[in-house]
Amino acid sequence: MSFLEVRELVSGYDRSTVLGGVDLELDSGGALGLLGRNGVGKSTLVMTLMGLVPVTSGSVLLDGVELAGRRPDVIAKAGVALVPQGRRVWATLTVAEHLSLATGRRAGTWTVSAVLELLPRLAERRRHYAGQLSGGEQQMLAVARALLTNPRLVLLDEPSDGLAPAIVEQLIGVIGVMRAEGVAVLLVEQDLHLAFSVSDQIAVMEKGRIVHRAPTGEFRRDPATAHRLLGVG
Ligand SMILES: Nc1ncnc2c1ncn2[C@@H]1O[C@H](COP(=O)(O)OP(=O)(O)O)[C@@H](O)[C@H]1O
Ligand SMILES: [Mg+2]
Repeated sequence: MSFLEVRELVSGYDRSTVLGGVDLELDSGGALGLLGRNGVGKSTLVMTLMGLVPVTSGSVLLDGVELAGRRPDVIAKAGVALVPQGRRVWATLTVAEHLSLATGRRAGTWTVSAVLELLPRLAERRRHYAGQLSGGEQQMLAVARALLTNPRLVLLDEPSDGLAPAIVEQLIGVIGVMRAEGVAVLLVEQDLHLAFSVSDQIAVMEKGRIVHRAPTGEFRRDPATAHRLLGVG
């Protein structure tokens, strides 16, 4: 059995079903890059895994424990952390305040000092309000907030959006550190360079379902499939 096993997951909003039966697996320490055009349900999937969108039916097993239908705080306590699309930092709280609010949910190696060592720019900006940070700094703050929960699974939703190439390279390094620590990573991305750099598997979503899966190397060597499913390559 895989560390994360999602089976026939159906979810959506008041008037619309978005996920029409998602299946996926992820091993401990593995990284899955989830690609797909706008509006196919990638954010809905990660928000459903985090308990932020209600599950209609199906199963989400993390290390054999059923999380489907549980509250977000229970899911966080089980070791799942979300770095949401658009970062969602609080403009009027300082970096230090964000870090202290995120601390202490689960014990582990990621303390404020360990996170600031990994992300030194945040240490320099400790007393700044999040609203004063650059997009890249806000993204690093969102990543720091997730790491401080000492997650076993991190869900990253388009973290490279709007970032300069140098910051994307930094993000690749940070995701590499997470993986080296045994954290499983589910990365939603439009930036193929980032997705290919950190993922060992690629999945493609269309209309609320996973329609293609391949090891990253295989996917890279198959531009026709990327073109058909994503309109790129
Ligand atoms: N809060 C919401 N309420 C109703 N519909 C939503 C909401 N968020 C997203 N949707 C709809 O769900 C579908 C999938 O959106 P989303 O999961 O954001 O896709 P993606 O992340 O792949 O771009 C879209 O049709 C979108 O309009
Ligand atoms: Mg999205």
